[in-house]
Parts: sequence; C-alpha cells; structure tokens
Amino acid sequence: MKVAVYPGSFDPVTFGHIDIIKRASSMFDKLIVAVLVNRKKTPMFNYEERVELIENSLEGLDNVEVVHFEGLLVDYLKKNNYKILVKGLRAISDFESEFQMASVNRQLDDDIDTVFIMTKVEYMYLSSSIVKEVYSFDGDISKFVPEKVNDKMKKMRRESDE
Ligand code: PNS
Repeated sequence: MKVAVYPGSFDPVTFGHIDIIKRASSMFDKLIVAVLVNRKKTPMFNYEERVELIENSLEGLDNVEVVHFEGLLVDYLKKNNYKILVKGLRAISDFESEFQMASVNRQLDDDIDTVFIMTKVEYMYLSSSIVKEVYSFDGDISKFVPEKVNDKMKKMRRESDE
C-alpha cells in the first residue's frame, strides 16, 4: 500500500491545501494529513481545532486520515514506517524553503522522498498567513477557506466583538 504524508501547520486550512489533499489522495492508496503541534508558536487555532477543521472540510475522501505530530517530521515518519512526503508548491518563492526542508529531511533520513505537487494557478497567491491578514482587517475570507473554517472564524469575530 502506497502511503504518503502531507505535513503542515494548516493554521487554518485553505482551499489551496484542500486542492493538494484531493489531488494527492488520488495518487496514493492512503494520505495522512499531519498537523504540526509547535509549542514555540501560538497558532490561531490549537492543533485539535486544526485537525477538526480539516476533517470537516474533506467530503468523500475516504483514504485521507488527519493526525497531529510533534517534533521532527522524519521521526514521525520513521515511527510509522512512512517514506513519502507530499508538499504543495506555489510560486518560485516557495521553492527555496521547500528545497531546504526536503534536503534536510533527506539528510536526516535517506529513505524519505518528497513529492511536490504544483498548486493550481487560482491558489498560487493563497496562504494561511494571507487569510489571517485579510481576516484581521475584517475582510471576507469565504473565497479562500472551506465553509467550516469561514463559519468558525466569523463566530470568533462575533465573540470578540461582544
Ligand atoms: O505549513 P508549513 O508551516 O509550511 O509546514 C512546515 C512543516 C510543518 C512541514 C515543517 O515546519 C516541519 O516539518 N516541522 C517539523 C519540524 C521538523 O521536522 N523540522 C525539520 C524539517 S526542515
């Protein structure tokens, strides 16, 4: 069985991530979406929320599992005997950091390969950071994130306004 792992912060998940998840899930028998628990950073959503938002945004993708991991990605892979990483690649600006991460992961564990999937043109500009930026100025993020994420962020805004 060919299993691939799609790691990320997903803070929050965007349509760009969902597109990569859909396409990667059709290429592998199973896709694990691995949400990073980074205790050094304060995310907008804790990892339980991020996992739940991804799960709730995946309709009919039976071969996708959403998990969280902490620490080195290669350790998570090794522990579970996974060997393939999937990453989305947007503009050239992504290339350098992705190349660095893939190279470091390779140095840490020579068994691991990273497969890059080119983002669809319509999502080239899209990132979780830009979603948070638009949201912070009360902008409409419904074109960027799944409905469940939009609903949750709208609810957070209402609660913070009260
Ligand atoms: O969505 P992101 O923030 O671009 O994802 C980055 C992620 C989670 C894939 C990366 O930060 C990561 O793998 N973190 C775990 C720690 C680790 O293994 N670091 C070494 C890889 S360079």
